[in-house]
Amino acid sequence: MNIFDLDTPALLIDLDRVEVNIAEMAEKARVAGVRLRPHTKTHKMVEIARMQIEAGADGITCAKLGEAEVWVENGFDDILIAYPLVGEAKLARLQALRERARIITSLDSVEVARGLGALGVASGKPVEVYVEVDTGHHRMGRPVGEPTVALVQELAAIEGITILGLLSHAGHAYSAVTLEDRDQVVASAIEDMRSTQERCAELGIVFDEISVGSTPGARAEMKRAGVTEVRPGTYVFNDTAMIYLGVASAETCAAHILTTVVARPTDERFVIDAGTKCFTSDGMGRPGWIQVVGRPDLTMSFITEEHGVGAIDLSQGGSLSIGDKLLLIPPHACPVVNLFDMAYGHRQGEVTQELLVASRGRVR
Ligand SMILES: Cc1ncc(COP(=O)(O)O)c(C=O)c1O
Repeated sequence: MNIFDLDTPALLIDLDRVEVNIAEMAEKARVAGVRLRPHTKTHKMVEIARMQIEAGADGITCAKLGEAEVWVENGFDDILIAYPLVGEAKLARLQALRERARIITSLDSVEVARGLGALGVASGKPVEVYVEVDTGHHRMGRPVGEPTVALVQELAAIEGITILGLLSHAGHAYSAVTLEDRDQVVASAIEDMRSTQERCAELGIVFDEISVGSTPGARAEMKRAGVTEVRPGTYVFNDTAMIYLGVASAETCAAHILTTVVARPTDERFVIDAGTKCFTSDGMGRPGWIQVVGRPDLTMSFITEEHGVGAIDLSQGGSLSIGDKLLLIPPHACPVVNLFDMAYGHRQGEVTQELLVASRGRVR
């Protein structure tokens, strides 16, 4: 079946493009000599995680324990849950997973380390952890330098955990204006992590790993000395945010929403059958926030829950009728995928398989 014969709205995955995106990142990591542990929050699909491993990824990353459960169930055996696990219920589930696979987790507090340490002692197998640091995103982590060194000293005294190294997510690189600025942001973040690592070593706490992530920064991050692992996620599909940041183009985007024009209230206005429940509100108002493939005369103006409202630039001479189908590039692929139960995988417009969004909604 051709993709334009599908009912809408539908999530489409261009598998040829996914393969190219996966191969490009895997090759760059191989040449740089760093491990690639892609973040699976972007696709949440077993088939695509397998493609990443087959292309050379050393393991996978996820954010939530519930996602890790899906991955272990499907045979993945080296998983980083890049999230602090808090509470007895989660620790019991973590232990069940650790009996079947290698599970690493991250933390930035003594409290979380104590819970994990108790598990490590009780099970006779220490829990492998990354210490998350704040290199400027101000989400998780103590600041790099002395605050982190002090934390690592406290963690080193806790029985039942093994500190693998430092982990950061330079999410603030998303707001760097130019590519040079972004490279500068990631370079100084990594320098800060390395000097923190060296200071810990001087105090006798030696660890090897520096794990960094994000699609905008990964290609520059992996070339920096000291980095041992990169965790990009969005690169697999890309989206208009990545186009805006200059690390993707419409051609390298692999996830699309197929929609139908359901109304033409005025000559200049059209309405499609997809709103925030397909696109989320992420990025609304950013120039080119949702792009219509192959139709530079069409721009999306705003969306509500079930309606997407767009404008036609009549000076470009295009036409558009009720019933026409449009292919759109979403603003942020990761939460968009999480809104769909399944996607249609296609090659050159021919649907080749249905893809279950296996770990969608696994927020617990
Ligand atoms: C901890 C962590 N690692 C890696 C990533 C991947 O970043 P990106 O989506 O830019 O590829 C994210 C994204 O949110 C993250 O939170």
